[in-house]
Amino acid sequence: MNIDLTTSLGSLQLSAPTLTASGCAAAGKELAQFGDVSTLGAVVTKSIMMAPRSGRATPRMAETPSGMLNSIGLQGPGIESFLENDLAWLRANNVTTIVSIAGNNVDEFGELARILSKVEGVDGLEVNISCPNVESRGQVFACNPYSAAQVIETVRSVWHSDAPVLAKLSPDVTDIVEIAQSVVEAGVDGVSMINTLLGMVIDVDHMKPMLGGRTGGLSGPAIRPVAVRAIYQVHAALPHLPILGMGGIRTGHDALEFIAAGASAVSIGTVVFGDPGAPWRIANELGQELESRGYNSLSEVVGLAHHN
Ligand code: FUM
Repeated sequence: MNIDLTTSLGSLQLSAPTLTASGCAAAGKELAQFGDVSTLGAVVTKSIMMAPRSGRATPRMAETPSGMLNSIGLQGPGIESFLENDLAWLRANNVTTIVSIAGNNVDEFGELARILSKVEGVDGLEVNISCPNVESRGQVFACNPYSAAQVIETVRSVWHSDAPVLAKLSPDVTDIVEIAQSVVEAGVDGVSMINTLLGMVIDVDHMKPMLGGRTGGLSGPAIRPVAVRAIYQVHAALPHLPILGMGGIRTGHDALEFIAAGASAVSIGTVVFGDPGAPWRIANELGQELESRGYNSLSEVVGLAHHN
């Protein structure tokens, strides 16, 4: 195959177009038995918080038609352990690394960004302002343009690294373009979209919500058309804004839809639970999809659906 699959997200050059999606491959180590993690576009880590966190009550997962609900609740080891164990492993293995951060409030986002801007091995920052599995809807900062901008302004004010800052957006809004515009004005270098949609499954034998946290985030192929639509809308309004696309991608054909809608690279999430080699497989398939259509590079296809 002679297709140039290299791409970029702002200042970050990527040797491959597929990345892991935050929350679906921890900090990359688990994938190492299935492929060379350093050949992925990047590992996007599970969102890290200041303190260790055990997450929400079980059950935390439910299958749904063409998808799944998760209600993890930002479980994680906290920033200190992350730096010592996870980031150290990623650095030692030459993995391009985008660290996802989540805070309970604006100050915590700022503190995490301040810490991470001083350490080696952080090639990008994904600011997760859109986790649906939090105590209150007010903590889904990406649902409000003012709150979203507040987080990004705070992060930006302490971010002294050249690595790009991406805001992860939620599809659970009336106008995602308005949110994208507000984070751009606040200083992001790009956006990741989309996070999961808020959903619920009821266990009718016990007449109660299936998940311990009651609601969860819907992911998988069921949300793919929502993601493609959201990316298309944001690229139409902000054509120069780098977009990392995600939401139910299972094949190279799916990935190509995201690229044509305006994404420069894609994150591979839910499919990894059943097919851990999917990020490598999908990159290969994407190359074949491009080649069979007569293209020479991925970059010539970014946003192409807007011109036809
Ligand atoms: O529950 C979780 O940890 C999910 C996070 C997210 O979707 O951002």
